Amino acid sequence: MLFGASSSSVYSHRIMVSSIILPVYGNVYPRGFYYVPVLVGDPPRPYFLDPDTGSDLTWLQCDAPCVRCTRAPHPLYKPSSDLIPCRDPLCAAVQPEYYRSETPEQCDYEVEYADGGSSLGVLLRDAMHFNLTNGLTQSPRLGIGCGYDQIPGSSHHPLDGVLGLGKGKASIVSQLSDQGLTRNVVGHCLSARGGGYIFIGDQVYDSSRMVWTNSSSGYTKHYSPGFAELVYGRRTTGVENLLVIFDSGSSYTYFASEAYHTLVSLLTRDLHRTSLKDATDDDTLPVCWKGRRPFKSIRDVKKYFKPLALSFGDGGRYASHYDIPPENYLIISMKGNVCLGILNGTEVGLQNYNIIGDISMQDKMIVYDNEKTMIGWGSANCEKIPKGKAVAL
Ligand SMILES: *[C@@H]1O[C@H](CO)[C@@H](O)[C@H](O)[C@H]1NC(C)=O
Ligand SMILES: *[C@@H]1O[C@H](CO)[C@@H](O)[C@H](O)[C@H]1NC(C)=O
Ligand SMILES: *[C@@H]1O[C@H](CO)[C@@H](O)[C@H](O)[C@H]1NC(C)=O
Repeated sequence: MLFGASSSSVYSHRIMVSSIILPVYGNVYPRGFYYVPVLVGDPPRPYFLDPDTGSDLTWLQCDAPCVRCTRAPHPLYKPSSDLIPCRDPLCAAVQPEYYRSETPEQCDYEVEYADGGSSLGVLLRDAMHFNLTNGLTQSPRLGIGCGYDQIPGSSHHPLDGVLGLGKGKASIVSQLSDQGLTRNVVGHCLSARGGGYIFIGDQVYDSSRMVWTNSSSGYTKHYSPGFAELVYGRRTTGVENLLVIFDSGSSYTYFASEAYHTLVSLLTRDLHRTSLKDATDDDTLPVCWKGRRPFKSIRDVKKYFKPLALSFGDGGRYASHYDIPPENYLIISMKGNVCLGILNGTEVGLQNYNIIGDISMQDKMIVYDNEKTMIGWGSANCEKIPKGKAVAL
């Protein structure tokens, strides 16, 4: 019990470990983001948070008072008075080592995101309310950020805050597991038709029906199956050693320059022989193509595009494939063109790694098991929210 769990959660630890399933709303296009409604505080108030496997800290735009807050669906969070002091292990998890708080009774944090956005605030504890799959409702007190100074990044979403699902100590996934409520496992299932669900705990999926790979920790603090080779139309491309991270906080997929260049060249070569032409008048995404008539759905264009895959392996022996069929890398724009949902990462400052974003995770169950340090995936119907099962220990 690192973080001083309440007596009720100590009790539940002895009885059973359960899981939490939360519905997700939104889509990759046209909305551009997903969100999860959560209840926080006493009395509970609703907030819409960005489910982000690419960061740890959960924070809410906060009336501390707010210096810079962005437009949000709900009134600003009123901070609880339960400040987390500097000496708390949770504080060490959000502050870099060189950082020294001026005030030992409070823990200042600053998180920066890959898109240039940031949140500055103070850590506190407050109740978050969850229905568990064992039928109980629990309100553990969790360390969250009261963000009173936000700078929106290039892919800013109009939400109340971020739900940090990373593997660090400060993540609510780690905190819930430290309190004995769930296993230190998180996952998501995003539907290509919008919506889906996230879950915390290990009772929501059938692990025997998924492909598992070791989660690499040496190269990045993000969820990463390690290095991959890019496969195009079931053939190797020669593009190897792509460090890949899975980031639900990113709507699109990003390849670093070389892989991006190779992909665009291969697509251009193959589309040259079809009726698709560059759609230079469509600025939905950097690369779009138009047909003879506007397209209505990916089904109309699937035949022109080949499947992609990332091939992960250990010691040079490529083992597990992560398939990216056309519907997981294309969108149909409002103008009826088909656009490439894989973007040039180098252009946005991502030199060293490649991000698998929401578009390439749709209709798949993705599981990040922090206890076994493995990542698993498998195709799934994400519209059907499972009930989960309670397992008595
Ligand atoms: C738990 O489920 C009940 C019944 O569906 C719902 O009314 C309530 O808002 C849920 N509570 C939380 C914390 O999600
Ligand atoms: C994962 O790592 C373990 C030990 O580091 C190794 O024995 C195992 O073969 C690896 N599994 C896969 C699927 O690569
Ligand atoms: C990707 O972006 C980088 C940096 O802006 C640029 O130099 C490179 O030419 C771009 N690659 C492609 C294929 O557009």
